Amino acid sequence: MEKNPEGGLIWLGGHIAVDVMSIEDVEIHEKMKGNPMNFQGKDILSAENMTQEEILEILRQSAEMENLCKTRPVSDLLADKVVALLFLEPSTRTRLSFETAVKRLGAKAITVSDAKTSSTAKGETLADTARTVEGYVDCIVVRQPMIGGAKVMADAVKIPVINGGDGAGQHPTQALLDLYTIQKERGTLEGLKLAMVGDLKFGRTVHSLTYALAPFKPKEYIFCSPAALEMPEHIVADMVEKGVPCKIAASMDEALQADVIYMTRIQKERFTDAAEYEKLKGSFILNRRLVEKGKKDITVMHPLPRVDEITVDVDDLPSAAYFRQAHNGVFVRMALLALVMGRA
Ligand code: CP
Repeated sequence: MEKNPEGGLIWLGGHIAVDVMSIEDVEIHEKMKGNPMNFQGKDILSAENMTQEEILEILRQSAEMENLCKTRPVSDLLADKVVALLFLEPSTRTRLSFETAVKRLGAKAITVSDAKTSSTAKGETLADTARTVEGYVDCIVVRQPMIGGAKVMADAVKIPVINGGDGAGQHPTQALLDLYTIQKERGTLEGLKLAMVGDLKFGRTVHSLTYALAPFKPKEYIFCSPAALEMPEHIVADMVEKGVPCKIAASMDEALQADVIYMTRIQKERFTDAAEYEKLKGSFILNRRLVEKGKKDITVMHPLPRVDEITVDVDDLPSAAYFRQAHNGVFVRMALLALVMGRA
């Protein structure tokens, strides 16, 4: 079995076992069988190499999952599967939406929700942890602090590994739920002006989103951050190579003229110098007055958690999409689990 050294989405092959599926699940399975894409056994490590076709297929499956939840909130599509949720860094949305997705698909989850309670705290390597857990489950979802750590685990095992955030690296499932949200809120992914505001250096969500939206020919990316927290040069260079116009903005004025403004938190946990964090926190704060002054139909997004980047008086504006965005995570993660385990 070969793993793709480039990371991203990787083919591994495998079997589709339909014997435990209900008649309704077999019908769902049959409906989706014409699907030209096959994600079975793939790792989801990074948004960098995802194609437009792959992304659209995942979003289509996410919409199927959203519809499925309306009629069958709990199905048995993955009734014979066990998923490990290894969260070695704090999380509310990613861990709980994956856990919800697992339960709504009829699978079981085993969870590490605190690094201190796993043997990584005793010095076990990620590769050894992965090899061990591979003997227990059918898929691993992992969040941990090392850039590339999810790939280290994926390289060590044959079952699919999903990156739930690797330090300041990538957060591909967040990018996919961001795209699903943009598609629902704006009706299209094509030709949008997207402003990303806040900590663009350490913010893995903006790294992944920058790559994930690129195949849809954005009109422009506006990067708005403190000088010390700019989008990494290699990402900007990749966008230039892909022909995506990029602008660096020092103030939020231009960002507020975008179709979508994507606010982010200053990532306190990535700073080695607490004084530097104190200096930069609160650099960009979006309030109701600013939203109302901005583009008329602007969509306000945030991966959450927020600290003070968006004041609560924005929350009840129709353009405030961030809690809808968090809810969409369940459908997208249901789709990804079903896809990589060959049941979508
Ligand atoms: N957006 C996101 O990754 O949130 P959590 O850190 O709560 O999982």
